[in-house]
Amino acid sequence: MKKILLVIAGVAVLAGCSKTNDYKPEVGASGEDIFKAACASCHEVNDKGEGVEPLNSGYVTDKISKGSMGMPAFPNITGAELESLSAYVLTKSLSNK
Ligand code: HEC
Repeated sequence: MKKILLVIAGVAVLAGCSKTNDYKPEVGASGEDIFKAACASCHEVNDKGEGVEPLNSGYVTDKISKGSMGMPAFPNITGAELESLSAYVLTKSLSNK
């Protein structure tokens, strides 16, 4: 009986992983460093200076913390690192690869 319960728990953890990314930035990491480590696999930035539409940091931080349809959530990017990452994203034009 115990064994069956453990297997069920394992499946639940695996299913959760597809929507959450466990990446955790170093304290004080710059927005650019975090972006290259956690985001560049799916997004690329350019220096056109157009930024992300709509230009709203709450929108970007929400997206990072909660994710959405095709985008994993990053619950471990918080505080100062979340601020610097969203500031970086807002100054760059972001596209999906
Ligand atoms: C596994 C691929 C993947 C990773 C990794 C990823 N994203 Fe995304 N992201 C997406 C997809 C797909 C979309 C668009 C569809 C959607 O909103 O679900 C998106 C949308 C976004 C948007 C909204 C853009 C707009 O114009 O509406 C922002 C902002 C964003 N991502 C920021 C980030 C940041 C910052 C990171 C790194 C912490 C990141 N993403 C990591 C796949 C990814």
